[in-house]
Amino acid sequence: MAIGSKQICGAVANLRGTIRVPGDKSISHRALLFGAIAEGNTEIEGLLPAEDPLSTANCLRAMGVEVSEISVGVNVVVKGVGLNGLQEPESILDCGNSGTTMRLMLGLIAGCHGRHFILDGDQSLRTRPMGRVAKPLGQMGAQISGRKQGNLAPLAIAGAALKGKILHTLVASAQVKSALLLAALTAEGPTTVIEPSLSRDHSERMLRAFGAQLVSNPLAPEVHLQPGHQLHGQRVVVPGDISSAAFWLVAGLLTPGTELILENVGLNPSRTGILTVLNAMGAAVECLDHRVVAGEPVGDLRVKTSPLKAFTIGGELIPTLIDEIPILAVAALAAEGTSVIKDAAELRVKETDRLAVMARQLRAMGAEIEETADGLVIPGSQKLRGAMLDSETDHRVAMSLAIAALNAEGPSQIARAEAAAVSYPSFWEHLAKIQA
Ligand code: S3P
Repeated sequence: MAIGSKQICGAVANLRGTIRVPGDKSISHRALLFGAIAEGNTEIEGLLPAEDPLSTANCLRAMGVEVSEISVGVNVVVKGVGLNGLQEPESILDCGNSGTTMRLMLGLIAGCHGRHFILDGDQSLRTRPMGRVAKPLGQMGAQISGRKQGNLAPLAIAGAALKGKILHTLVASAQVKSALLLAALTAEGPTTVIEPSLSRDHSERMLRAFGAQLVSNPLAPEVHLQPGHQLHGQRVVVPGDISSAAFWLVAGLLTPGTELILENVGLNPSRTGILTVLNAMGAAVECLDHRVVAGEPVGDLRVKTSPLKAFTIGGELIPTLIDEIPILAVAALAAEGTSVIKDAAELRVKETDRLAVMARQLRAMGAEIEETADGLVIPGSQKLRGAMLDSETDHRVAMSLAIAALNAEGPSQIARAEAAAVSYPSFWEHLAKIQA
């Protein structure tokens, strides 16, 4: 077997057991970032010990923030340096594969006047659009330059005094919104961010808990931030990542004779589009103990094998399940009828072009699948066959293909399977555990 590849045996008998998925990636980044610019210490329980949050932690360390060691099962302590306490780093800030790190970092450092920064990342991150953050930050007075008129990393940031503005974002992106809110914390005058539709609201919830003066409009996807208030270090409890749980939900639904319990899954309504769609497909997914932990809704999910109906998704639902579309494509192949995914062109600028990559890889398993400009059309009731597959370096593709391979006839090999560690380092171990 080639280094970094995984062999999956198709058509497993059933899956059984309980999985505690690792901490939510979005919330983990935010806990580190907000903790860094707060006064006092922030203690984080359940932080995701994966490559992406490590990139954020290492960038913060390079700017003089003490972040304790990040490892499984250990609380992480961030010693806040205050809103204006970040130091000019001696070297470039390496964001690795993490779009969230680079975009939120832009908002964090744009207002650090008198200090210079270079943000860079891996080959994938160097192709991802940063203009969506750099341009509105530019309207606030930020000085950001980079390849392709400031759209592509490496990016150079000359910290500048910022002014609060009313900003309309062009895409419903929590990364863009959060970057602007971070910049707004130190700007002169208030900032309002207006989105085309609501993206995940973890930043709003957590910033409020840290003491920021922030008002969300309940009737519109609009957030208003009044600067001039220090943030105060908090204890943050990170729930399990619903985007990671989604792989087990679909695995459970498709594999005959299965019952799985997924413990402690974050159920923030701006993230639960996957549950809405699976429910409409006829999936037996049950929430066992709905509760609120540190300002975020959480529950345990029980999933049982179910016959599935096709779905059509688009519009405002898309931002609520944007990261789950690759695994939903796998579910669609097994459903009765043709499923349609539209308004999802954003997937083309994720870690890979996920529409193209999923279509290409699933076709290698014999699937019939049509790629459109902004989505996929997927006829159902298809039988997959095991094949030589490739994550193409994308963590969510690696894990989606693993679940597709479980339900194929004959074995599959997934090249570059190590990509899963970007968001879910224990994925392969968990997969082995529920087949035991
Ligand atoms: C994220 C937001 C989403 C998502 C990404 C994490 C975040 O991206 O795809 O995995 O933590 O804010 P966009 O905000 O660009 O849609």
